[in-house]
Amino acid sequence: KIVVLDFGSQYNQLIARRIREFGVYSELHSNEMTLDEILALGDVKGIVFSGGPNSVYAEDAPKCDPAILTSGIPLLGICYGMQLVQLEMGGKVEPGDSSEYGRTRIQVERESLLFHDLPADEIVWMSHGDKVTELAPGFEMVAKSENCPFAAAQNVDKNMYTLQFHPEVRHTEYGNAILKNFVFEIAKAKPNWSMKDFIATEKALIREKVGTDKVLLGLSGGVDSSVVAALLHEAIGDQLICMFIDHGLLRKGEAESVMETFGKNMNINLVKIDAKKRFMDKLKGVSDPEQKRKIIGNEFVYTFDEEVKKLTEGEDIKWLAQGTLYTDVIESGTKTAQTIKSHHNVGGLPKDMQFQLIEPLNTLFKDEVRALGTELGLPDEMVWRQPFPGPGLGIRILGDVTEEKLKIVRDSDYILREEIAKAGLDREIWQYFTALTNMRSVGVMGDQRTYDYAVAIRAVTSIDGMTADWAKIPYDVLDTISTRIVNEVDHVNRVLVDITSKPPGTIEFE
Ligand code: XMP
Repeated sequence: KIVVLDFGSQYNQLIARRIREFGVYSELHSNEMTLDEILALGDVKGIVFSGGPNSVYAEDAPKCDPAILTSGIPLLGICYGMQLVQLEMGGKVEPGDSSEYGRTRIQVERESLLFHDLPADEIVWMSHGDKVTELAPGFEMVAKSENCPFAAAQNVDKNMYTLQFHPEVRHTEYGNAILKNFVFEIAKAKPNWSMKDFIATEKALIREKVGTDKVLLGLSGGVDSSVVAALLHEAIGDQLICMFIDHGLLRKGEAESVMETFGKNMNINLVKIDAKKRFMDKLKGVSDPEQKRKIIGNEFVYTFDEEVKKLTEGEDIKWLAQGTLYTDVIESGTKTAQTIKSHHNVGGLPKDMQFQLIEPLNTLFKDEVRALGTELGLPDEMVWRQPFPGPGLGIRILGDVTEEKLKIVRDSDYILREEIAKAGLDREIWQYFTALTNMRSVGVMGDQRTYDYAVAIRAVTSIDGMTADWAKIPYDVLDTISTRIVNEVDHVNRVLVDITSKPPGTIEFE
């Protein structure tokens, strides 16, 4: 494997990711990891130091275990990683008089395995203020740019390679080829990693960890918890107990599909908690969005807590599995990976739960989790499920929530989903749903005056949900959706389309 040490660059996740795309397993770890800890990971073929926002001279600048630098393990230092290696090995780093950001042309002037088979003149992505002004003894210049005398440098005897630019970003023309050269030509790793290996390794690890203990998993039906369920079930079979809380704010067919896929088809130990009534009772007459969110979130935690107590009275459950992803781990800082993250799908788990955690997805990205789900045999509709908020339809009904309104959103949303799938747009559009506006207006149906609800169609394209564009659904598709909703859903006489992007709008209505 290739170990990537994290010095804080916004691109560091990409490095491990690219290497895994080459079929070589790669993990990202804290820069504080010692050589011994790295070696204990086993089969380490190479180490990469990532970039980082600091200046190597800053007081709290992240350092590395010096033993790594004399270990002889092939090393690639990127940006900050280069400056650190050069400084620690006796070179000089100074603030650049003109910092370089963005596309930059470099000239490769010396033979290097890193640039094996690549043109001498190439475009790379730079992003640095400081620069190396004097190489450490034993290093030689490989490439330079107009502003940077050492865009790349190497010490072949010591197996050390350093780059001032970022090979992991797409803007670096031959970035992938450079990383590949490091992985295969220099570190001599073998492309023998695949999702199948991941499954086999993880299953063995999980078995070793839990032995014959029971493991509890809160299953929401979302992609992450579904994939964890499938993986754990393969690993430990009936030792896995899944708990699915139906808060009554799910979409049409959702609870049934979770029960069918996991309970019936996969034969997983699945406890369904029907908590519809307690949620509806608590929500009765409440129309303020924040208050609704709070009620749903709190009620979820109480329900989970109570039901876990009931379960653990009869059974000794030590472990709690969670669908934490690589990105969640990085966002919460690699050092704090063990703290229980408030699970965004279930609105926060009780703080005082005494469980040990199992997080088998915490080295994977979302699309890798999807690939894993497919490999584990989960159906497409589960693996490609669109994001769904924890508070569910509770925040897609403006104003107070009633059974009648829930039925209107469920039925209209179902029609929308059917037609979007029929039009082949379901993977292109990030999220699409209907919301009940709580507005009534006058219409005419079959010569009769109507005074009924207006349903809004909300559909957005997005990369991460942080920003979004309203999706340009073709008019004929919209036309079919609108006609069907008004004809098939009781108490709806008008359909509106939300054409607000985010910002200024949010994706959800509340
Ligand atoms: P907004 O509405 O803030 O939504 O633009 C951004 C993304 O987050 C989802 N969302 C939630 N997810 N719990 C969740 O798990 C929540 O309370 C919640 N609120 C919004 C939303 O569906 C969109 O994908």
